[in-house]
Amino acid sequence: MKRILCLAVSSLIAPAAISFAGDASALWNQNCASCHGKDGSGSTMMGKKLNVKDYRDAKVQAAFTDSEAEKAIADGVKENGKQVMKPSKEKFSEADIKALVAHLRSLKK
Ligand code: HEC
Repeated sequence: MKRILCLAVSSLIAPAAISFAGDASALWNQNCASCHGKDGSGSTMMGKKLNVKDYRDAKVQAAFTDSEAEKAIADGVKENGKQVMKPSKEKFSEADIKALVAHLRSLKK
């Protein structure tokens, strides 16, 4: 009886954890992959045009902190006064932005 209860509880908890991870990659694929690529490589038409970095590269990942990444996502990125990435703070909650940064970090090879 104890064992059945345990199974029932774990099957209630597990799907919530899975859908969280799924949300961040879905957010990434829908909103970021057009430039940064699903794999973070930036080898898309837009990515090549805008010269996005390869986020699979550990050196590229080491060049910015999590809070810098959060700020870039929230406020957007400008290069030479030209906006190359739009701000997302009105679109995403702080939790979404943190999840996106975690997803970006997971793309490192
Ligand atoms: C219109 C193309 C475009 C889209 C869409 C886009 N980005 Fe970017 N992003 C860029 C460019 C260009 C840069 C600056 C060059 C670089 O750092 O690769 C950049 C930079 C960044 C940086 C800063 C890295 C650093 O060096 O500080 C992060 C983090 C980032 N993007 C995450 C995201 C996330 C998350 C999304 C989706 C919500 C997203 N981007 C959507 C084009 C885009």
